[in-house]
Amino acid sequence: MNLRAIVYASEAIPGLSNGRIHDLAQSACRFNLQAGVTGVLLYDGRRFFHYLEGPEDGMAIVYARVLAARIRTSTTTARPGCPLMLEIA
Ligand SMILES: Cc1cc2nc3c(=O)[nH]c(=O)nc-3n(C[C@H](O)[C@H](O)[C@H](O)COP(=O)(O)O)c2cc1C
Repeated sequence: MNLRAIVYASEAIPGLSNGRIHDLAQSACRFNLQAGVTGVLLYDGRRFFHYLEGPEDGMAIVYARVLAARIRTSTTTARPGCPLMLEIA
């Protein structure tokens, strides 16, 4: 099986509540389990940093869900071989 990995950073919309973050995590967890996808999602109150990995078909669906989410604005995805740099203030 070919595994694919994606790393991206994304800005959250202003005023995002903890409740919506909790709902996102629950929904993502349920969906990722079915899609065979796993990863690490970090949130500092303003930005998301997400590492995802899994089979190509599952990853395509999960990443499409991420890009469709209304609670994030800009997204920067790491290109192969290029680390994504985030300044931690
Ligand atoms: C930073 C971020 C990470 C997400 N991670 C996942 C994920 O790992 N798996 C998944 O199925 N959906 C993921 N999603 C999508 C959400 O689970 C959900 O589809 C989305 O929040 C739908 O609500 P909305 O359109 O109102 O934002 C993510 C969304 C965001 C913004």
